[in-house]
Formats: sequence, C-alpha cells, structure tokens
Amino acid sequence: MTEKRFAGKSVIVTGAGNGLGRAYAEAFAAEGASVTVADIDLSAAREAARAIEGSAPVGVDVADEESVASMVATAVGRFGGVDVLINNAGLHMGQYNLTSTLPLADWRRLFDVNVFGAALCARHSRDAMVSRGGGVILNQSSNSSYLGGGAYSVSKLALNGLTLSLAREFAQDGIRVLGIAPGMIASEAVLERLEDTSKQRILGEQLIRRFGRAEDLVGMALLLCSDDASFVTGQTVTVDGGFIKRV
Ligand SMILES: NC(=O)c1ccc[n+]([C@@H]2O[C@H](COP(=O)([O-])OP(=O)(O)OC[C@H]3O[C@@H](n4cnc5c(N)ncnc54)[C@H](O)[C@@H]3O)[C@@H](O)[C@H]2O)c1
Repeated sequence: MTEKRFAGKSVIVTGAGNGLGRAYAEAFAAEGASVTVADIDLSAAREAARAIEGSAPVGVDVADEESVASMVATAVGRFGGVDVLINNAGLHMGQYNLTSTLPLADWRRLFDVNVFGAALCARHSRDAMVSRGGGVILNQSSNSSYLGGGAYSVSKLALNGLTLSLAREFAQDGIRVLGIAPGMIASEAVLERLEDTSKQRILGEQLIRRFGRAEDLVGMALLLCSDDASFVTGQTVTVDGGFIKRV
C-alpha cells in the first residue's frame, strides 16, 4: 500500500468550519494529516472536526494576533508543530464588491481578515515550521484579484503580493509560500444566490464550460503543498477553468 501523502504532517486550515476550508481540511486528513480545524465560528469548527478523523477544532479570529498565537500554540501542543498552513478564512459577501461607498470600517475589517489575517497566521506559524525543517503556506486568493471587482478583489490582489513577499522572506527557512486563485466555485449556496444571466456569463467566459467544484481546488492544494511542488514558490495559481486569460 502506498503511504498517504501527508502522513505524519500537521496542517492548520483557517475558516475550516464551512465551505472550501472544510473541504481542504477533509482532503488533507484523508491524505493522512492531523488537521487543526480553525474558525471564528467555534461551533462550526467543532462540528467539522467531529466528522474529520484525527483533527482538532479551535476558535480563532485570524485578525486578532493573540487569538492567532493561541491557535498555533494549540496546533503545536496537539500535533508537535506545523507543516502546512492554509490561509483560507476570508470575508467575501456581496457588500464588499463596492469600492466608492463602502464604509471605511468595512474596508478595514476586510483587509484585517483577508490580508493581515493571513500575514499574522504566517508570522506565527513560522517557528513551528522551522522546528519541522520547513513547511508550506497556501493563501486562498481569488481570480477576481485580476478583475477589479471591488474592495474584495483589491484585498485579494494585496494577498497575492503578500504571497510573494512572504515567499522571499521565508525561503531561507525552507518554507514555500503559494496562492490559489479560484474562479467561481459552485457550492449550492453560491448557485442559489446567483442569477441565471450571471451563471451563463461566467460559463461563457470560461474555456472549460462547467462550474468549478471544491475538488478542483483541493487537488491543486494537495499538489502545491506536497513535495511534487518542492521547486515552486511565490506564485498564485489560477484555478478557474480558463476564465482569466493571460500569458
Ligand atoms: N466560494 C467561491 O466561489 C470562492 C471563490 C474564490 C475565492 N474564495 C475564497 O475562499 C475562501 C473560503 O470561501 P467560502 O466560499 O468557503 O466561504 P465561507 O463563508 O463558506 O467560509 C469562510 C469561513 O471563514 C470563516 N471566517 C470568517 N472570518 C473569519 C476570521 N476572522 N477568522 C477565522 N475564520 C473566519 C467563516 O466563519 C467561515 O467558516 C475565502 O477566502 C474566499 O474569499 C471563494
């Protein structure tokens, strides 16, 4: 029997109580990892962790430095260190599509979570990765970072910049830093919210004419965090069926 790809590894996934984060947590656990299921919604984290063998739930607000330090301490205490950090937690409600009228407090919260939150989680995981001889940080971006789609997309473009900056700083410690920029992933909630014309417009722009699925992201995340990608760092990989076209 072949050994599972992440056997013996300790993986933190933020925003893992719901949606894509939960899918990442399940996938890494299925590949043998011990997963810290971290979410601001502790009851969602607990519920997800109950269903994921060998995982531990933790409540965290990624925008709060003390809370982040405590999340990493929990992962280290429980699983002996950190090998992989998936910075998935993010704010993305429709209200963040506005730029000119979005209240400043909302801009700040958006950046606190989507950008500074990822930076804090990375900063606090660094030593825990060094103690394991290196690691991987994966930032969950969005293809809207390239589309000028409002405050949300501005925050995700900043996140892509953070990915490269951290890759430069952490390379000396054997830590690779990468991003994934998904297009629209058609969870039931997303499909329900979206009007038919928007769905057709998105499919019409994609070269691969089907909706993206969580499995499409999971496969890429497992690859990027594995040794098969050991010579890749600093990049944000677009996973959107060819919606964004650039050479
Ligand atoms: N769903 C998509 O189509 C899509 C496309 C591109 C990018 N993304 C990105 O993927 C990520 C997950 O999206 P989703 O659709 O699964 O969203 P979701 O809302 O279903 O899940 C996000 C999770 O993050 C948690 N969270 C929010 N703020 C937090 C904080 N401050 N600290 C800790 N946890 C926090 C929430 O409680 C929730 O469990 C986000 O970063 C989003 O921007 C999603």
